[in-house]
Amino acid sequence: MEYLKIENLRKTFGGVVAVDNVSFDVEQGTLLGIIGPNGSGKTTTVNLITGFLKPDSGKVLFKGRDIAGLRASKITNLGIGRTFQMVKPFYRLPAFKNLVVPLFSPRVKRMGGHYGEKDTLALDILEDIGFERDSAVPYKPASILPHGYLKRLEMARVIALQSELIVFDELYSGLTLAEVASISPMIEKLIETGKTIIMVEHRLKELFKIAHKIVVLDQGKKIAEGSPREIMKQPSVKKAYLGVEL
Ligand SMILES: Nc1ncnc2c1ncn2[C@@H]1O[C@H](COP(=O)(O)OP(=O)(O)O)[C@@H](O)[C@H]1O
Ligand SMILES: [Mg+2]
Repeated sequence: MEYLKIENLRKTFGGVVAVDNVSFDVEQGTLLGIIGPNGSGKTTTVNLITGFLKPDSGKVLFKGRDIAGLRASKITNLGIGRTFQMVKPFYRLPAFKNLVVPLFSPRVKRMGGHYGEKDTLALDILEDIGFERDSAVPYKPASILPHGYLKRLEMARVIALQSELIVFDELYSGLTLAEVASISPMIEKLIETGKTIIMVEHRLKELFKIAHKIVVLDQGKKIAEGSPREIMKQPSVKKAYLGVEL
């Protein structure tokens, strides 16, 4: 049985077909990259998988169960976590308190994997993701954190939730090459520890280094699918990305 199987997923907004009968599979323990020009339906696909939108038709089979149309909180509880293209922290809370919230979630309670005091756990997770433990940074309100830290905080949130399938929507956008170079190994480590990852990404060079498979969307349709090496050679992909260096 496939781990995650998307079948003929379709979503329209008025006259716009945002996602047009898209199908693909994600194997457990692998990293799938979703790429495509702006407006090609990437974020809508993420929203359909994670319960932020209901599809007009089609299926999202997670370990054999159709989860399409379930509430987002239910899907989070089943083990699918996502980050947002536009970061959404609790701005007024200190960075580490942003993780205390998921640490008290029903999923974490049920999984029983985190022991100990929640504040300490939150600080441990932040340290693993690059927040300097002995600095003031973990204690600062999220509202004043630099963009790079907010992106890490988003990552830390799905780690705190013990999500088994993690969907990153443009995690690398706005990050420096050095920041991406420090985050990519963390993503590879997540894969090594058994997580499955979907990355919607515009930073193709960086994505292609760590992805096992790529799905290319253009105007809501899947126009190509294959290994990063295969995708780089596809004329249709070059056309969709005209002007974008592969
Ligand atoms: N909530 C919405 N209401 C109306 N149109 C939307 C909405 N969300 C997305 N769209 C439209 O759907 C298409 C796909 O958008 P999106 O999935 O955000 O693309 P991408 O993430 O690839 O840039 C675009 O034409 C966009 O304008
Ligand atoms: Mg998007």
